[in-house]
Amino acid sequence: MQKRTTLSRREFLGKTSVGLAAAGAVPRTFAISGNPKALALQGGTPVRSKPFPDWPQTTEAEERNILKSLRNHRWCTADGEFIPKFEKAWAEKVGSRGCVITPCGTHALQMALELLGVGPGDEVITSPYTYIATVDAIMMGYSLPVFADSDLKTFQLDADDIEHRITERTRAIIPVHIYGAPSHLDKVLAIGKKHNIPVIEDACQAHHAEWKGKKVGTWGTIGCFSFQESKVLPAGEAGALVSDNDDLIAKAYMFRNFGSDPHTHRYESRAFKYRISDFAAAVLMGQLERYEELCAKREKHAAYLAAGLKKIPGFMMQENYPESTRQNHYCFGMRYDREHFKNVSRSKVVSALKAEGILADAGYNPLNKEPFLERSLNSRGFQAVFSSERLEKYRRETNLPKNDELCATAFLLEQNMLVGEKSDVDDVLEAFNKVQMNASVLA
Ligand SMILES: Cc1ncc(COP(=O)(O)O)c(C=O)c1O
Repeated sequence: MQKRTTLSRREFLGKTSVGLAAAGAVPRTFAISGNPKALALQGGTPVRSKPFPDWPQTTEAEERNILKSLRNHRWCTADGEFIPKFEKAWAEKVGSRGCVITPCGTHALQMALELLGVGPGDEVITSPYTYIATVDAIMMGYSLPVFADSDLKTFQLDADDIEHRITERTRAIIPVHIYGAPSHLDKVLAIGKKHNIPVIEDACQAHHAEWKGKKVGTWGTIGCFSFQESKVLPAGEAGALVSDNDDLIAKAYMFRNFGSDPHTHRYESRAFKYRISDFAAAVLMGQLERYEELCAKREKHAAYLAAGLKKIPGFMMQENYPESTRQNHYCFGMRYDREHFKNVSRSKVVSALKAEGILADAGYNPLNKEPFLERSLNSRGFQAVFSSERLEKYRRETNLPKNDELCATAFLLEQNMLVGEKSDVDDVLEAFNKVQMNASVLA
């Protein structure tokens, strides 16, 4: 977290403009017609009125591949040309022995739990600061999502809050590499090892992020990725599961195909259909052609944005653990300092940035307070597999003050603003500067 400043407005303007100019962060003057200081939210002229680059981006590579797939009439999982190509390519890219493509990241997570035998009455420890998919994957199998509290600085699950939540029914731990930044894998894996509990990495947002130089998703027993449209490697809807365990990979191939054994053609296990059309893989193979170039650009612009934002008080960036060697910046995580903004709500700050033309989003609300959770606990299925004492204890212990504070103050910036030109990032910085200068009038 950055140090808070208590500079007067005049001191701040002086220091900030010098600082930003020195960092090369805001090269332009505030050339806004009318009153340059008025927030767009309050009738002023927005910093940015033209759109940021679109996401996802495509070239002729996706068109070529889709057309090829279309014309060869091999569209399904069993004989599609691009599905095995992508599975091989993604396994190589992340450095895993095996990769199995799935309809989406949610299915990859659900399949991972199934493959590890996690089921009704079991408990899975995970992060409360995540997309609902992580929790749904657990609950669809009638397992209990046991939340460890969040780490306010990194937005990750607080690894020091895991161990006391382990019970005799804990069957997996799912750290979520949130916004493309690694969770504290050393601590999580050590706990998993000590208690003989497998770790499934939710790397759905964290393609090519690295922990100590090795890709996330490859540290735990299984790693899960999403290729949904908004992700850094998009295909509309698709996902993948990776593992170094050949047996699990073989089981995953069977699981996605009704448990059918490819040799005996017998239905060997309770399973389901998690197959996918070849078109998504055709898009993914096209996307891979520009993947490294776009990742490099995103990361370069994220570093530039971070350097500029450091100079603007009232905002704190999502922090990284020192062992985290690469972050993909799928989202650029931020928090605002409530004191600096005279206790205005997160939505007010986000609205002010949006009005300036910035692609800001409020991010997550406390998942443990969403109606689905209590409704599920009261459902016939959950009541059948968990005792009322266990559910009462669960309710008492699902108290996550740090996550509440994180959700109240965190927001995110979308990657679109990082995959274009440096001048796009300058607009973002100018908007942040403007909003923070108006902190007192936002209240
Ligand atoms: C952290 C996290 N986990 C899981 C998922 C699920 O991925 P999908 O949308 O491909 O099902 C997402 C998707 O956004 C996610 O952000």
